[in-house]
Amino acid sequence: MRMVDVIEKKRNGKELTNEEIRFAVNGYTQGEIPDYQMSALAMAIFFQDMTTAERAELTMAMVESGDQIDLSAVEGIKVDKHSTGGVGDKTTIALAPLVAALGVPVAKMSGRGLGHTGGTIDKLESIPGFTVEISIDEFTNLVNKNKLAVVGQTGNLAPADKKLYALRDVTATVNSIPLIASSIMSKKIASGADAIVLDVKTGTGAFMKELDQAKELAEAMVGIGKSLGRNTMAIISDMNQPLGYTIGNALEVKEAIDLLYGRGPDDLRELCLRLGSQMVYFAGKAESIEDARKKLVEVIENGKARETLKTFIKAQNGDPSIVDEPEKLAKAKYLIEVQAKSDGFVAGIEADQIGTAAMLLGAGRATKDSEIDLAVGMELHKKIGDFVKAGESIATLHSNREDVEEIIERVRDAYRFSKEDIGAPTLIYDEIK
Ligand code: URA
Repeated sequence: MRMVDVIEKKRNGKELTNEEIRFAVNGYTQGEIPDYQMSALAMAIFFQDMTTAERAELTMAMVESGDQIDLSAVEGIKVDKHSTGGVGDKTTIALAPLVAALGVPVAKMSGRGLGHTGGTIDKLESIPGFTVEISIDEFTNLVNKNKLAVVGQTGNLAPADKKLYALRDVTATVNSIPLIASSIMSKKIASGADAIVLDVKTGTGAFMKELDQAKELAEAMVGIGKSLGRNTMAIISDMNQPLGYTIGNALEVKEAIDLLYGRGPDDLRELCLRLGSQMVYFAGKAESIEDARKKLVEVIENGKARETLKTFIKAQNGDPSIVDEPEKLAKAKYLIEVQAKSDGFVAGIEADQIGTAAMLLGAGRATKDSEIDLAVGMELHKKIGDFVKAGESIATLHSNREDVEEIIERVRDAYRFSKEDIGAPTLIYDEIK
């Protein structure tokens, strides 16, 4: 087989065979196919798209290029959740103990963040003592015992995807639905998921800015999951403003804990209940989505979800007392208010800008090797639809430095005001099953 023929076939809009897809992916991963030929194929896919069968094969070729986590020793149906990423997205931290409290095994392999704030692991590491440096054996034992464990991502998960993603980044081929969908799904499947619940974000702070793009991506991922025998569904949720009120690692952990006390922001709670109901249903722990939702509300109200969180934290060396006393989490030195300049209803909050402001405070990594300050970030006081008076605080920065004028301006500029109340935005636009 010759790579040039594979490129030409895709360029002409034909469907590639499984053998052709494997030939390209394996050859590229092993260094036998050069970057320029793989770039040409990526560009041909960008313009000509792929069928669901091709997307599924591409996904499996990337899965099989590296380690696959064997979770067969974990009892029950392992349901993973994935979010395409957003500002203030602390869903996993609340959701994992919530569903685990109902007996759903949550075997989560997570990464660190290269975004506005840390990833789930960074957030969890703001709990004193907490570690994700556990062996895979320990990880599966903990899931069997406590129904919940989190481990750091192995470096050899879908290496073909890693190499191809880096190439796409410099060849203007990141934004291709079949390539994004297979990239994300390859990592989920290599992590051992039996079923997958996806949270595809859309809006100013999301990877997919437009709703129809987000739907297309969700449909592509659900199509791949189902073709590969995994129960898969997606929720399309709003990212036209940050999720919840906090952005920053320790601050987000505190907000997630609040939710397990039955407090916490409405948007975060609703999203957790919607995603959680699907996870519980897929895991066979409820008869219907409605039944699953009822059970989730029960474990919030009877404290079982908080107990599950404590057991999980303790098992991974963390201090479980932070669940009852979240004020023990790291705190920044300075609290600095951001005041509104005029009256009006909040009509929009550029989530991207808020995320960048949090990163500039030190909550996120500018480069792979940057150190994160787990204590810093911000708390928003106003969200879309709220009325604000001139001089009123719209946000509090949690900072370890005082020279934050530029960041204050950035947060202020991220808010858009209007004379009329536009009401709260839609949180969940659609479900793809
Ligand atoms: N995230 C991924 O993991 N892959 C992509 O291609 C895009 C976003």
